[in-house]
Amino acid sequence: MLNKANPIKRLNLVLIATICIGEALIMFFLPFFGALSDILIAALDVALLLLIMIPVVKWLVTEPMMKYHRDLGSAKNTILARENQMLGALNALAAANDNETGNHIIRTQQYVKLLAQRLKIMGHHCEILTNEYIERLFKVAPLHDLGKVGIPDAILKKMGKLTADEREQINQHAMIGESILLAAQTEDSESDLIATALKITGYHHERWDGLGYPRKLVGENIPIEARIMAVADVFDALVSSRPYKRAWTIGDAYQEIVLKSGSAFDPTVVEAFIAERLNFENIAHNY
Ligand SMILES: [Fe+2]
Ligand SMILES: [Fe+2]
Repeated sequence: MLNKANPIKRLNLVLIATICIGEALIMFFLPFFGALSDILIAALDVALLLLIMIPVVKWLVTEPMMKYHRDLGSAKNTILARENQMLGALNALAAANDNETGNHIIRTQQYVKLLAQRLKIMGHHCEILTNEYIERLFKVAPLHDLGKVGIPDAILKKMGKLTADEREQINQHAMIGESILLAAQTEDSESDLIATALKITGYHHERWDGLGYPRKLVGENIPIEARIMAVADVFDALVSSRPYKRAWTIGDAYQEIVLKSGSAFDPTVVEAFIAERLNFENIAHNY
């Protein structure tokens, strides 16, 4: 538990006590040193004050301050451990219900990291894309299709083309995923990881031109986390085979993403994608 004692209040008390004790000492010792110079009296006063105040300050301020920082550090570690535990459980849930082929989750996670790092290098969204935040994006990217847990297998794993109604049901996965994450977010401890995951999970099917779903947001109204995820997700879907389609070549998928810059995708993210083409190819081949 955190020590709630406020070290600043304690410091104020110590300062007031120092002044009072100092004044009292000077008044008390003054008659005994009448023959000595004022400078010597002042030096003795200071020495006495220091002698008294050093252990007092240590007891009242330094030790509580150190304990406060120790408690704060251990509270942060506990929160981090709980977040990682929760993330592990949600990732397992997302992976268990993933109907995509191969290592879609791992590949898209890698693509997201590449795009975020490249955007940062290019000077885009630097205020958001710190190294720490990119690591967080990497951690939560596998949750983008978490909501598919709420879609019947008969639709999710259907061999063949989906009807309009089935497509509509699958599209619900963005909002379902969002609801699961909101339920994982407790009132008293807002998790940074969940907050970032919400931006990906609920918005990764929005399009730059406003024709996406579920909210039909336009351009920069879509969180940058989701704009990055969209390019990673679509590229991987194109180069993967499905029961109803063959895998596109990497070259064709590359052209498709570039062609849809400014319509489906954020142009700055596509710019980063172009710069990372070789790394995308490596990941597509290696995972
Ligand atoms: Fe999705
Ligand atoms: Fe996906």
